[in-house]
Amino acid sequence: MSTTGELRRVTTHRLQEMKQAGEKIAMLTAYDFTMARLIDRAGIDVILVGDSASNIMAGHETTLPITLDQMIYHAASVIRGVRRALVVVDLPFGSYQGNSKEALNSAIRIMKETGAHAVKMEGGSEIEESVRRILSAGIPVMGHLGLTPQSIYKFGTYSVRATEEKEAQKVRSDALLLQELGCFALVLEKVPAALGTEIAQKLTIPVIGIGAGAGVDGQVLVTHDMLGINYEFKPRFLRQYLQLHQTMTEAFKAYIRDVKSGNFPSPSEQY
Ligand code: KIV
Repeated sequence: MSTTGELRRVTTHRLQEMKQAGEKIAMLTAYDFTMARLIDRAGIDVILVGDSASNIMAGHETTLPITLDQMIYHAASVIRGVRRALVVVDLPFGSYQGNSKEALNSAIRIMKETGAHAVKMEGGSEIEESVRRILSAGIPVMGHLGLTPQSIYKFGTYSVRATEEKEAQKVRSDALLLQELGCFALVLEKVPAALGTEIAQKLTIPVIGIGAGAGVDGQVLVTHDMLGINYEFKPRFLRQYLQLHQTMTEAFKAYIRDVKSGNFPSPSEQY
């Protein structure tokens, strides 16, 4: 809150201030209005409309199938629920890798059609031209290095990245490149904690980790994972704050029982 009682919106500039002040940044995913509103009112700094919607919302095995139109639908719904957080939207696979003009068009569509505040892109030097072009249009870009799920068929596994020096070196140089290009922040996924700390200390922009240890500038989790709705996914880096799948299943079963037995609706639940 500001001194006048108004909500102070989180901006890319504010994230920079937080990094300088050593204040940790909290980020969670959302794909719909209802969840976004709850997360925003709880005081989150950044909401990511992740392409993990492809897994969580649509049941796909990877993030590859989700389309730009589908990301726009999710992002526009999220934005309607948010008053304070910075909203970042993933550019989906195939919408930016091959051609920087197409990349710019994809980013412009997201900004125009959803009202979101920034885009996120996976990769380093391979996508330099696309990042440059999007930034030159005034669109804030968050980078994403380490485990980049859009390249899962190249990696072949979701295991920890950059454990070998050659790959760690590539992550280091890509991180510096993204900062030099003008990205406002970087997501670092599933890399050794020592590398996460080193990169966060070297960069002046915030580094937000997921499975990158405690030495980075903030953390991001997939909301459905930390709530225990998506209960089968339990990587080491995940802290499950609830086992919501159990509570929900119990509620569904109770409702079914009540309908079948005629216990619902009661006299006070009808007109
Ligand atoms: O799509 C997503 O949810 C993400 C996070 C895991 C960082 O990219």
